Amino acid sequence: MTSKSKAIEALKSHFENDAPKDMRAAFSNDPKRFENNSATFDDLLLDWSKCAVNDQTLTLLEDLALEKNVASKRDAMFNGEHINITEDRAVLHTALRNRSNLPIIEGGKDVMHDVNAVLDQMGVFSEGVRSGDITASNGKKFTDIVNIGIGGSDLGPAMAVLAMAPYHDGPRCHFVSNIDGAHIADTLKNVQLETTLFIIASKTFTTIETMTNAQTARRAIVEALNEDAVAHHFCAVSTALDKVADFGINEDRIFGFWDWVGGRYSLWGAIGLPVMMAIGAVRFGEFLDGAHAMDKHFKDAPARENLPMMLGLIGYYHRAICDYSTRAVIPYDQRLSRLAAYLQQLDMESNGKSVTLDSQSVCGPSGPIVWGEPGTNGQHAFFQLLHQGTDIIPVEFIVAATAHETGMDVHHQLLLANCFAQSEALMKGRTLEEAHQQLTDKGMGKAEADRLAPHKVFSGNRPSTTLVYKKLTPFALGRLIALYEHRVFVEAQLYGINAFDQWGVELGKELATALLPVVQTGKGAAKLDSSTAALVKYVSDIS
Ligand code: F6P
Repeated sequence: MTSKSKAIEALKSHFENDAPKDMRAAFSNDPKRFENNSATFDDLLLDWSKCAVNDQTLTLLEDLALEKNVASKRDAMFNGEHINITEDRAVLHTALRNRSNLPIIEGGKDVMHDVNAVLDQMGVFSEGVRSGDITASNGKKFTDIVNIGIGGSDLGPAMAVLAMAPYHDGPRCHFVSNIDGAHIADTLKNVQLETTLFIIASKTFTTIETMTNAQTARRAIVEALNEDAVAHHFCAVSTALDKVADFGINEDRIFGFWDWVGGRYSLWGAIGLPVMMAIGAVRFGEFLDGAHAMDKHFKDAPARENLPMMLGLIGYYHRAICDYSTRAVIPYDQRLSRLAAYLQQLDMESNGKSVTLDSQSVCGPSGPIVWGEPGTNGQHAFFQLLHQGTDIIPVEFIVAATAHETGMDVHHQLLLANCFAQSEALMKGRTLEEAHQQLTDKGMGKAEADRLAPHKVFSGNRPSTTLVYKKLTPFALGRLIALYEHRVFVEAQLYGINAFDQWGVELGKELATALLPVVQTGKGAAKLDSSTAALVKYVSDIS
């Protein structure tokens, strides 16, 4: 186990003894509480003033960031050093959106040459498909795109295509990820195969879900059309170019990326092809611009004005010091309804680790459970627990100042009012006296008010951050996603872990491979534990 750090001990003592406990008082005692506990980057505002922190908390967190060398590690990442030490890889997703085009050296060569070449190839192909210059095997324009991928080869583009609906003027996009045959079967029912283009997206081109779904799609095309149609109806995104060629996809339809791009950080390059197909290369460029702007901000802004740094410090404080084990991400934006799913992989696959960079057990907690749904829907589902449950769950609200829709202003006004009211309610709460008063004001007798009032008490002092930006444009989305990527990075440095490997997904994959023949034949169950053996037998008996 790693030794405890001075800064962490100071933070723990501060949390117990000196951090604000009464947030109503914290606001009324400091008229500048919002100014002192918020930061902006262009139109993007991060407000953490409703979290139980003060200047001393932030100073101690900054001390910890210094102790953990967050700034020099950030620079090491941007410079292409092999910070993914368990796989001996650079971590250069930022190169995919390096709009400055300044050289980034990896393995002795400037990666920008390859990055730009793939971006250009994507642009030519997607504009060809969108314009109808590149057609289906029958000469008709493609109407539908089906992206077959999973994890990082699915969640990012699926989230972004939905988020970018107002800019979507390309073919319809569908996403198939699950090995459950229902997913591809239901998708194939909804498309005309004659005018459907499949993107097989897999960094490794070995993932069993993607390979199985790809073969099913291939069979569907061959059955509905013919073998020659495969060349027209498939393209692929992968780092394993040799494996893709075996599938029968022409070289000019293979879009590469590199082992220095982690799957969950890969949306900015070829994995973003469905997004580019949907909104076009120019808008996709704006999406990259937004992320690049956030990269520069992360590199240059001082800590208190640095949004990823502050979001990371606050996130770490809640998890490691306050011991809040989950965080809810609640976008008040229906088009960000897949954001929480995307962030679950980004955050939990990155920071769900128990071993430090020097191969010791993590001292204290590491990354939290991340979950969420859009508001206002969540208010009518799980917000009860956020307000009155026995666990404290920090909430991250996300909302745009303006909507894309015209002539329906009241919708957005209500959305904003609800979003801000929720963070206000979590912070302020309602005391027993206030609850009692409210009941008696409505004419209730004292005895009945005594009985009911405790049920209407809200403890308050429940932390939340709020992110606000002008409008959910491609630029704003790119900036938001890059903000979250860097926040995950900051937290990883504070935990002292490698955010860029994912060994924790291996064991389940290995056991599934070993179990498949047992499920298929029923033979070999005797070697299994009694529960797993009985489950296999039960399924076989009732099917
Ligand atoms: O199982 C986890 C994982 O390896 C993720 O890290 C990755 O994003 C996903 O599977 C898909 O992998 P691939 O793109 O290689 O098919």
